[in-house]
Amino acid sequence: MQTEKSFDVLIIGSGAAGLSLALRLPSHLRIAVLAKKTLSEGNTYYAQGGISAVLDEEDSIDSHAADTLDAGAGLCDETVVRQVVEKGPENIRWLLEQGVAFTRDAPSALGYHLTREGGHSHRRVIHAADATGREMENTLEGQARARQNIHLFENCNAVDLITTDKLGRPGNRCIGSYVLNRGTGRVEAFLARFTALASGGAGKVYLYTSNPDVATGDGIAMAWRAGCRVANMEFIQFHPTCLYHPHAKSFLISEALRGEGAHLLRPDGSRFMPAFDERAELAPRDIVARAIDHEMKRLGADCMFLDISHKPEEFIRQHFPTIYAKCQSFGIDITREPIPVVPAAHYTCGGVVTDHSGRTDIPNLFCIGEAAYTGLHGANRMASNSLLECLVYAQLASQRITDGIDTTPEPGAVPPWDESRVTDSDEEVVVSHNWDELRRFMWDYVGIVRSNKRLARAQRRVNLLRHEIREYYSNFRVTNDLLELRNLVDAADLIIQSAMRRRESRGLHFNLDFPSRDDRYQRHPTILIPDNYHPGHTFGQ
Ligand code: FAD
Ligand code: SIN
Repeated sequence: MQTEKSFDVLIIGSGAAGLSLALRLPSHLRIAVLAKKTLSEGNTYYAQGGISAVLDEEDSIDSHAADTLDAGAGLCDETVVRQVVEKGPENIRWLLEQGVAFTRDAPSALGYHLTREGGHSHRRVIHAADATGREMENTLEGQARARQNIHLFENCNAVDLITTDKLGRPGNRCIGSYVLNRGTGRVEAFLARFTALASGGAGKVYLYTSNPDVATGDGIAMAWRAGCRVANMEFIQFHPTCLYHPHAKSFLISEALRGEGAHLLRPDGSRFMPAFDERAELAPRDIVARAIDHEMKRLGADCMFLDISHKPEEFIRQHFPTIYAKCQSFGIDITREPIPVVPAAHYTCGGVVTDHSGRTDIPNLFCIGEAAYTGLHGANRMASNSLLECLVYAQLASQRITDGIDTTPEPGAVPPWDESRVTDSDEEVVVSHNWDELRRFMWDYVGIVRSNKRLARAQRRVNLLRHEIREYYSNFRVTNDLLELRNLVDAADLIIQSAMRRRESRGLHFNLDFPSRDDRYQRHPTILIPDNYHPGHTFGQ
């Protein structure tokens, strides 16, 4: 029997972007928030360093904007940069009103401690020790649970968007999503007047990543399949410093350590960053990650080292309690010895193309947070600008949805999910094998350093996988693993296609065959257009 759930707004994702949007919408609207696992599991929960905003009297909007533009290597949209940076302080105030407990610094005029990270020319990163995301996610989740109009659905995996176009109805718009309930194994329709993708990035495309398992690019893949343009997917940010230890899965060593004076060392204890950039350890991430990769390959080393042990023990334990405890659990005392580190895939700079309030190419469909391409990050995201972007676009999208809700019709009924021609798979091994293969070749061929030959190899393999997964998807009942693999393959394909189009090296994209930056012909975003794109409908027109 078909069950349908109907809401005013459906939000796919419960991280910083999704929960902020839910909380900012008026309380008379019926809102559904979906999470693939628990509400808190997502990139937001693991954010360490903090959120950037102009909060210090000696800092300025111009300076934050200039640093963002500089990190973005000529590809940021300046209007977007200014919009986001200008809205930073009011969004931090909003978080404080929600109850987020940032680290205090009593003697300062602000009353809160501001740290520094790569690319920032001032201290402007507000934080909750080294677990900013955990504090923020827990606080927003608590607020959302207290609101009667917000309906929270955990273990619910959005499968595909429902558009009137797909249903053969006139006037294309998004009216919700089919959703797999991971508990019951059933697929239900969640219908809504507005749908917002807040489903995070695609870090799991790569073998080594700082991202948790849910980061499989679902929203980007779903929007692409539904007819949305996707931009700048070649710009995958590799965080320079993830913990290197056989039992440490995806554990980040925050850039704030370098902001507070930590040095990067070769295995022989010598520093190398000053030889790569005058900002040394505080150069933007693309430069630091490439320098580490270069030194590891040159020396045949498994990792480099990050050393903060010259700082007082009390300072380290107070500012970095989570990192201290985690490293201690692996027998590394960061107050006395350097930390073994390697780069890992960290952030998806590209995503679903949106306008200045988060609208996508499909009317009534928004996309906010890491899944979106707004133009803020350009070719490289500056540290701590991501949580800021989540907050600002949640605010802007909520205004736009509120303005439009009364004039937006109900979605109407939709056909039930059709399972009549599928059976249960008896070959789950195919899914897990393809999952491993994809992540490995993406790491080897589409990683920090790329070449035309490596990209072509990756393209051939992803084509084969896509073909195999499509067949599998049509014949077998959907499972969480199959859905995630299908999305990972689509996301990988978008990354490879974008990387092949960019015939230069810029920001996070480095290709040995085009090692220089080409401002004459390549200074524009890479925009991929799906076959089912309707230009007339762009941004809700
Ligand atoms: P997420 O927080 O990733 O949430 C995604 C949500 O979507 C989850 O609820 C997930 O379950 C849900 N979802 C996904 N697919 C589906 C589906 N198919 N169906 C239903 N639900 C789905 N940025 C900063 O600015 N400062 C930092 O200090 C910082 N530190 C970081 C540290 C780490 C280790 C990592 C990984 C990232 C860090 N970042 C930081 C980046 C930042 O955390 C993320 O970009 C940001 O949190 C993304 O928020 P989001 O709401 O867009 O997505
Ligand atoms: C970190 O703490 O190093 C992560 C900051 C970020 O990704 O913005």
